Amino acid sequence: MPLLDQHGRTHDYLRISVTDRCNLRCLYCMGEEGIEQVAHRDILSYEEIAAVVRAGAELGISKIRLTGGEPLVRKNLKDLVGSIKAIPGITDLALTTNGILLSERAAELNKAGLDRVNISLDSLNPEVYHRTTRCGELSEVMAGIETALALKLQPVKINTVLMKGINETEVLDFIKLTLDQPLHVRFIEYMPIGDHDRQYRDHYLPLSYIEETAAGAGLPLTPAPLPGGAGPAEAYTVKDGKGTVGLIHPISRHFCDKCNRLRLTAEGNLKACLYWQDEYSVKAVINDHEALKALIVKVLSGKPVEHQMVADGSCGSVKPGAMRTMSKTGG
Ligand code: 5AD
Ligand code: SF4
Repeated sequence: MPLLDQHGRTHDYLRISVTDRCNLRCLYCMGEEGIEQVAHRDILSYEEIAAVVRAGAELGISKIRLTGGEPLVRKNLKDLVGSIKAIPGITDLALTTNGILLSERAAELNKAGLDRVNISLDSLNPEVYHRTTRCGELSEVMAGIETALALKLQPVKINTVLMKGINETEVLDFIKLTLDQPLHVRFIEYMPIGDHDRQYRDHYLPLSYIEETAAGAGLPLTPAPLPGGAGPAEAYTVKDGKGTVGLIHPISRHFCDKCNRLRLTAEGNLKACLYWQDEYSVKAVINDHEALKALIVKVLSGKPVEHQMVADGSCGSVKPGAMRTMSKTGG
């Protein structure tokens, strides 16, 4: 039986933030000083996360994504990968990472059962990369991408947040990455998340910019099937390209009608929507399988039909102060 919400949408996908900590400080995600961190003792253990996945899998969840913060900064992530992969019903296990530690860890994660990776990368220029992440070394991410391709952790997807005045001049370089390698570059519209109002207004650019730039350079984007099945992106190929270009625009054309996901935060709160303040802690029911299943059903029953986030940065559905940064919720 599929897991349906009140609006008839099937939910088969759980995104799990395994930590709110990160080894980078991306401009759009957190301040220079980082975020106020959840204490270690409040973070769900791997056993607790696996209990939630087990309950979800029985209800119809089949796809899992591990996110953060940066999931690779949490110790022994391969152990969690192994235990999730062993749960009956879980058919797809993916990871979203900034890629810094990926070249070191990819082989052990792959061996433990990781199917594929999404790597965040907002610039191909070492200086711009260093500036937007406030400390990142581009060469480390590039090594991570190479390793992911070599290990066939595919489809290998690259997440690129389009930002005016920061990386819009690199759009063609990113598109060209899809020509020779089976890389799937997904441009993401900058979202007004967290406490970054000013930055958001300065740097937001609608994704129509990508289509116009590609066409203007003689590399028109043609619709293509989505790599690896469903998802919020629209996929395109450039003539003879081995990969695809994806456009994810949560703001200018939101995709709530196809939403199939639930989220679990690092401290154990289930959320039905990234932009909705309601969240329920799993902690009180973590040792009670049936109660855990009932909680998942309850969370889903309150899922809004769509989010109200609009391009002026206001967020009709969210109580002021209720927005979390991406590092707290998992992207
Ligand atoms: N707007 C758009 N994307 C964001 N991400 C983090 N914060 C934002 C934001 N404000 C993206 C990261 C990463 C994914 C997990 O979420 O770039 O690819
Ligand atoms: Fe870290 Fe991801 Fe936030 Fe960048 S966007 S600071 S990589 S959690």
